[in-house]
Amino acid sequence: MEFAELPMKFETVVAGGCRSYIIGCEETCAAALIDPDLSQIDRYLALAAKDGLRIRYLVDTHTHADHFSATQQLARQLGVPVVMHDASPAPFVDLRLRGGELLIVGRLRLRAIHTPGHTRDSMCLCVEDRVFTGDTLLIGGTGRTDLPSGDAGALYDSLFEGVLTLDPTTKVFPAHEYKGRSHSTIGQELTDNPRLQKRDRGAFIEMMQNLNLTMPTHVTEALRTNMSGGKTVAQMLSEAAAAVPFMSLVELKACLEPRKDGLIVLDVRERDAIEEGHIPGAQLLPRGQLELRVNDELADPTRRILVYCEFGRVSTLATATLRQMGFRGAVALDGGMKAWRDAGYAVREGKEP
Ligand SMILES: [Fe+2]
Repeated sequence: MEFAELPMKFETVVAGGCRSYIIGCEETCAAALIDPDLSQIDRYLALAAKDGLRIRYLVDTHTHADHFSATQQLARQLGVPVVMHDASPAPFVDLRLRGGELLIVGRLRLRAIHTPGHTRDSMCLCVEDRVFTGDTLLIGGTGRTDLPSGDAGALYDSLFEGVLTLDPTTKVFPAHEYKGRSHSTIGQELTDNPRLQKRDRGAFIEMMQNLNLTMPTHVTEALRTNMSGGKTVAQMLSEAAAAVPFMSLVELKACLEPRKDGLIVLDVRERDAIEEGHIPGAQLLPRGQLELRVNDELADPTRRILVYCEFGRVSTLATATLRQMGFRGAVALDGGMKAWRDAGYAVREGKEP
């Protein structure tokens, strides 16, 4: 088969074993971003800018169970649609493709093939000389079929009657690759991929059902956030951290001897933790009671309030809450009681007088 040689720009972004791709039309500067990962948002935007591309579509090849999709956040940021297969359970999908339908990206045409099996909503996208296979077909492997909505028989049909019938020279770009290979071809997969050597449907299903794979890490959180559009714990923490200033342990120590500027040191852990050891002079206001007790405990919203907890995460959330409530002087400790203790700084046990 002859491929029309349209000039295109292409970027692969590697994040652990996950792969995302930016494919753009050089002539019009329009691009699609395929399977973006939440941890790589700045990288995608920087790469698109470097290549002179504008991202017009955010595509997930399926509901991911092993990483956090960035489609929804990027859609908000860029004002462009989230694209998934029609069978996607996610309510925030703007454009639902069915098999055979095209996504127009400048002069490029991305053609969807519905490939259920790894998940019910899996699709592959063909464009020019390549196919983005999501987790349907990996280099030397296939997606697993033991996660929610997986179906080994459906995967067999999607592979042998679908994606593997593409021209053998078609380049394969999967959503995962663990050995650093950039891509393969349909022909190479047909001959070399051990999972594809079971050409009998029953034998393929039996093989897939007996893989006994371990669950991916964060599977519960990934499915929750990718299916609902809700936020991850890391997102909640990074949004809070972006909205507050921090104080170092060294600076806090200096502020305490002698106590300057009427600094309030607020311990947001529970009472038993504070009695085991706290920063001398700290005031107790557990995170769980913060909003309800703040009017009684913190009368002056202009005071400088240094907030700490055990590790520095809960205090970041608490500081963001205080600032939202108008405590403009709220600052989070960079680190927590553990780091303070490890640094050998003064610790007081029991209650504050
Ligand atoms: Fe997947």
